[in-house]
Amino acid sequence: MAISVRAVGPADLPLVTRALAGGWGATLVAFGRGELVDAAALPGFLAFDGDEPAGLVTYVERDGGREVEVVTLDAWLPGRGVGRALLDAVRGEAVRRGADRLTLITTNDNTHALRFYQRYGFDLVALHRHGVDAARRLKPGIPAEADGIPIRHELELELPLSAG
Ligand SMILES: CC(C)(COP(=O)(O)OP(=O)(O)OC[C@H]1O[C@@H](n2cnc3c(N)ncnc32)[C@H](O)[C@@H]1OP(=O)(O)O)[C@@H](O)C(=O)NCCC(=O)NCCS
Repeated sequence: MAISVRAVGPADLPLVTRALAGGWGATLVAFGRGELVDAAALPGFLAFDGDEPAGLVTYVERDGGREVEVVTLDAWLPGRGVGRALLDAVRGEAVRRGADRLTLITTNDNTHALRFYQRYGFDLVALHRHGVDAARRLKPGIPAEADGIPIRHELELELPLSAG
């Protein structure tokens, strides 16, 4: 079945809360540099495979609307185009708002996401050494390692938006 995407609405709060708590340990997530945000309160898009929830992206507007930052992105049905469809939705929304760039931060362990984002068109613009160590002081539940790789650093990626 084709993947469909729609904006998160107030009635989705239980699903969004459950999903964020499952994926990230809590709806409070570390993002940007040294910030914590309740991602369940952010705007976002949900993906569905038929009636089955398939993924979630949340985002914030920054820099007076010139930047849209992806805060969380999760595909619950991997390798089916869910991640791409959700990024397409945020990118469309960012262009509609007049933003000139879409940004996000991932972590040094997340080689799969780094591959996925670069294949999508994002470019690496900064390495924040020990950015995750700093975030962990705000949110001690951030795991120490993933797949045997210590989670320490933040990688900042950017996708220029031509219509901005
Ligand atoms: C990173 C993540 C969001 C990618 O989402 P995804 O839905 O698996 O990504 P897509 O399906 O859009 O793309 C992945 C691959 O599937 C392929 N694909 C897309 N649609 C497809 C389809 N209908 N059938 C088969 N393959 C398909 C894509 O071409 C891509 O292939 P490639 O790896 O050879 O480039 C997902 O792995 C995830 O949720 N990871 C855990 C959370 C996370 O790390 N989030 C990012 C934090 S910064």
